[in-house]
Parts: sequence; C-alpha cells; structure tokens
Amino acid sequence: MKFKKIVIMTSVLATVFCGTTTAQADITLRHALKGDVLDMSFAKKGGDTDAFKEFMKEGDNPYNTDAAVIKEGKSLYMTGCSGCHGHEAEGKIGPGLADDYWTYPSIATDKGLFEVLFGGANGMMGPQYVNFNTDEMLQIMAWLRSIYTGKPKKAKWLKK
Ligand code: HEC
Repeated sequence: MKFKKIVIMTSVLATVFCGTTTAQADITLRHALKGDVLDMSFAKKGGDTDAFKEFMKEGDNPYNTDAAVIKEGKSLYMTGCSGCHGHEAEGKIGPGLADDYWTYPSIATDKGLFEVLFGGANGMMGPQYVNFNTDEMLQIMAWLRSIYTGKPKKAKWLKK
C-alpha cells in the first residue's frame, strides 16, 4: 500500500516537473515599464492559436509575411488603435507607430511590441487584452510591420 502511494506520488511529481520544463522553454513576457511578468490569465478567449503558440517559442510573429492576416490586422487596428494612433499609424494622441522612433526601444522586436500591446504602457496606453485576444494582437502587429517606413537596419524583427 505504502509503496503504491510512493509510485503514484513519483509519477505525479514527474508530470509536474516535465510540465514546468516545457513552460520554461517558452519566452517570458514582461511589462514594458514595470518589468514584472505579464499575467496571461487576463487574455481573452480564442487567442491561444497555433500562431500564438509559435510566437511564444522564440518571440517571433509568424504572421509578419502573411498577406491575408495583414489585411485582417489592418481592420482590427482601425477598430481599436487608429483613434489614438491615427489611421496610417502616423500618431495622434499616441505616438506614430510606422517609423523607427520608439519610446520603448524593445518595440524593434516582436516580443517587445507584443509586451506593450498586451500589458500597456503609460497613461492612455492601457492593456489591450481588454479589446483583443493574443492572436488578434499578432495580426495587428503584422500590419504595423508591413507599413514600416523606418531604416531596415533598425528592424530587429527581420533579423533572426
Ligand atoms: C486611448 C488611446 C490609445 C489606444 C486605444 C491605443 N493606444 Fe497605443 N499608445 C497611446 C499612448 C498615449 C501611448 C504613449 C504611452 C507611453 O509612452 O508610455 C501609446 C503607446 C503605444 C506604443 C509604444 C510606442 C513607442 O514609441 O514606444 C505602441 C506600440 C502602441 N501604443 C500600440 C498600440 C496599438 C497597436 C493599439 C491598438 C491595439 C493601441 N496602441 C491602442 C494611446 C493609445
């Protein structure tokens, strides 16, 4: 009886341990200002797609070159972001997003851009998980990358 219990406990521990190692292989998303780990439990339902899982491995947006997704991303941007950032992402209440000047230099990577979207930044830039799921954020990001007007050498997301 005792032995059986030990066997069960060991297999439970092994499962927990393996689960943890898999999670650690993924990237850690942090708040752009505070640096604390983003609580992904706030994420809206429906965003845990294959593309998002792929993004979580290395922090690269698999949608960046997908023309159909970029089109969708534009329409999502128009709904949720253009009021503050302008229809061409030229800047309005919030800064321009198509050039290569970023308040948060981490935005030159897809991971950094996602962190500002999901977790928000200062003032009016609230966490976007209120309006969009994580897959939709990747779609918006793909559109933003597609209209980039800055110097290619600053586009770190192209360099992996
Ligand atoms: C209510 C207005 C508002 C909305 C809606 C909004 N933003 Fe912002 N955004 C801001 C403001 C203001 C800032 C500047 C915050 C700061 O500097 O910390 C900002 C900052 C940013 C930055 C950082 C820019 C940089 O130069 O580092 C990114 C990226 C961004 N927003 C993307 C988005 C996207 C994409 C959406 C839609 C999903 C969105 N924002 C929705 C107001 C808004």
